[in-house]
Amino acid sequence: MKKYIVVIAGGGSTFTPGVVKALLSKKNEFKLDELRVFDIDGERQRKISVITKSVVDEMDPGLLFTEHTNPESAFQDADFIFAQIRTGKYAMRELDEKIPLSLGTIGQETCGPGGMAYALRAIKPMVELVDYMEKYSKKDCWMINYSNPASIVAEAMRRLRPNSKVLNICDMPVGMMQKMTDIFKCDYEEIEPEYFGLNHFGWFTSLKVNGVERIDEMKSFIKEHGLFPETNYDLQHKDASWQKTYKNMKYILNLFDDYVPNTYMQYYLLGDLVLNQLNKDYTRANEVMDGREATLFKAIDEYEKTGNYDREAFHVGAHGLFIVDVANSLVNDLNKKYLVIVENNGAIKNLPNDAMIEIPCLITKDGPVSTYKNLEIPTFNKGMIEQQLASEKCLVDAYMENSYDKALKALTLNKTVSSALKAKDILDSLIEANKDFWPELRK
Ligand code: NAD
Ligand code: G6P
Ligand code: MN
Repeated sequence: MKKYIVVIAGGGSTFTPGVVKALLSKKNEFKLDELRVFDIDGERQRKISVITKSVVDEMDPGLLFTEHTNPESAFQDADFIFAQIRTGKYAMRELDEKIPLSLGTIGQETCGPGGMAYALRAIKPMVELVDYMEKYSKKDCWMINYSNPASIVAEAMRRLRPNSKVLNICDMPVGMMQKMTDIFKCDYEEIEPEYFGLNHFGWFTSLKVNGVERIDEMKSFIKEHGLFPETNYDLQHKDASWQKTYKNMKYILNLFDDYVPNTYMQYYLLGDLVLNQLNKDYTRANEVMDGREATLFKAIDEYEKTGNYDREAFHVGAHGLFIVDVANSLVNDLNKKYLVIVENNGAIKNLPNDAMIEIPCLITKDGPVSTYKNLEIPTFNKGMIEQQLASEKCLVDAYMENSYDKALKALTLNKTVSSALKAKDILDSLIEANKDFWPELRK
């Protein structure tokens, strides 16, 4: 059986030990020759690798595990790159969330102005990663990218590196499906979804469990409780702010019950309510630093001192399993159906062909193949998608043309921003905060 070299770019990510655990849990189908981690912050990566290495030693003793800060050694002859970088780390995420909030606008890391700030930081290093892959890795190497904001990163890659083998993915739909298992009493692999939209901007139109349509049952449950079952299986989204998010889905379903929306629709459809729920002094970045990050670093210290650590310090979850499932389907040509981000090209007939959309695709050895052709979507969803798409496309224009005007238009088009004047105030503050990261935006 062929063996593969996998590189995790963003080796210092809080998700790395979970992804590695998921990867090694499939070691009989997807055999590794070497596992490498790559990060620009060698010290953070060294720390996280203490736990990552212990996972390797436990699950696949003898597997070569190497740490890199040099792209050439990291990407050399690789078969797969799993990308999960965060440009500017949590310090900048905190500003993405807090700057818009201080100006009375939703602050979020992937939606609204916060997501746009993150995107203008992320595009350049993502292009660099793709270039490293093309320069050093095997010719048929694939990059599976989780790095956010995945929607805008995908649009930027489509334009800047159109021929590269990059598949952008998101764990939110599978995270939601994992929550649904408690209501449907099944495993999440037994749920077959139909779904359309942009990343973090879409709707489930069907939820079949072992072939039987059960979306109405899900809608009734959500109308009453939100997507918040008694047993909270999904450990990734367990913190207080995520609980609120899942509960908020109730309000959306009681307004529009044609489909089951992605949780991120709360930012676009329930703006006033969400703004009231957010705390401008303590955002999700703080919750993550005090929670997921602190817990993991505590376990690292404990392991370095005692050789033991709390096994609850990280988990695999849908997040880890999903990227490995997608990679496995690519490697072994399994043709399994997953929701991924691809260029429209006629899959949805009443959206532009060049939109990067999130839909079910068959994952083959040659990449994703859409399961939709000429799907027609309703006017309401189409209108919302087109506005968001225009906002995201203007933002990529702003990056490529160094254009202040395009960035202002991107923020103005975003449904989370109340006016062009507000967009200008937020943009000017974000420019100041991001001066070490953003391209210069010229007026
Ligand atoms: P984190 O800050 O813990 O880890 C990110 C790591 O990336 C850091 O160690 C940092 O040093 C490193 N990094 C930054 N720039 C880099 C570069 N140019 N090259 C190599 N490494 C670089 O962040 P996290 O919370 O673990 O999240 C990691 C990423 O995964 C984020 O982009 C996050 O949004 C994304 N994510 C996406 C999904 C999804 O559904 N698409 C789900 C979860 C996380
Ligand atoms: C979901 C989304 C990801 C996002 C994550 C944020 O899983 O799909 O795109 O990165 O939530 O999670 P966090 O715990 O960092 O707030
Ligand atoms: Mn996502």
